Amino acid sequence: MSDTLLEINNLKKSFGTGEAKQDVLRGMSFTVAKGEFCVLLGPSGSGKSTLLNIIGGIDTPDSGYVSIGGDRLEDMSEKQLTLYRRKHLGYVFQMYNLIPNLNVKENIEVGAYLADNPLDVEEVINTLGLQEHKYKYPNQLSGGQQQRVSIGRAVVKNPDILMCDEPTGALDYKTSKEILALIEDCNRKYGNTIIMVTHNEAIRFMADHVIRLRDGVVRHNDLNETKTPASELEW
Ligand SMILES: Nc1ncnc2c1ncn2[C@@H]1O[C@H](COP(=O)(O)OP(=O)(O)OP(=O)(O)O)[C@@H](O)[C@H]1O
Ligand SMILES: [Mg+2]
Repeated sequence: MSDTLLEINNLKKSFGTGEAKQDVLRGMSFTVAKGEFCVLLGPSGSGKSTLLNIIGGIDTPDSGYVSIGGDRLEDMSEKQLTLYRRKHLGYVFQMYNLIPNLNVKENIEVGAYLADNPLDVEEVINTLGLQEHKYKYPNQLSGGQQQRVSIGRAVVKNPDILMCDEPTGALDYKTSKEILALIEDCNRKYGNTIIMVTHNEAIRFMADHVIRLRDGVVRHNDLNETKTPASELEW
């Protein structure tokens, strides 16, 4: 696993101007290898979602660059960027971002339509325990159920890179472990590269690569020699 898939190089990003200017990313650098399960840890406000948005091509840095498979995002046209998001990226947002006028099944199908090698929609619905909710709309679902749909929409694409922003933040212990096992499966079975943001320290034990952010930079960057399966994690 030495093939670099993703390179983050000296990324800087501020919000606001003058007195209110806030330097969120202050020269952040790291690489993620192809097929790696990478966990990003850091306190609230440390720029984790900002970083994922930049990797996802949703936001742009003030300086520095992101390159994927050797291609810098900044060199891509709008069309190439759309294709990159559509074909190669699965994104589980911290705030779910489901489409309100589509039901559970349709929200997940949106992910599948866009992908080259999607997983089976029904299978994903089953794994996520959403069978009995599949014709409900997002406003008829609990937070945890919405979170599972948003994971389904990303996972069903079977994407090269699966980015998850606090994917278990709203879930109970048992469901969290099931979801982590599903993401682990995507990594192991299909070789998807995973970048997962979490506040849960225990999750680092299931990762290949653990990156700790603080004050807008990488504080620790470690490779795990052994991994603990999601099913054996405890917290
Ligand atoms: N669009 C924006 N405009 C202004 N400030 C922003 C914007 N987006 C993020 N910020 C600020 O940047 C900082 C980092 O935010 P970010 O959402 O990346 O943190 P985070 O590490 O994901 O936190 P959490 O763990 O709470 O989700 C915060 O202080 C936030 O207020
Ligand atoms: Mg966040």
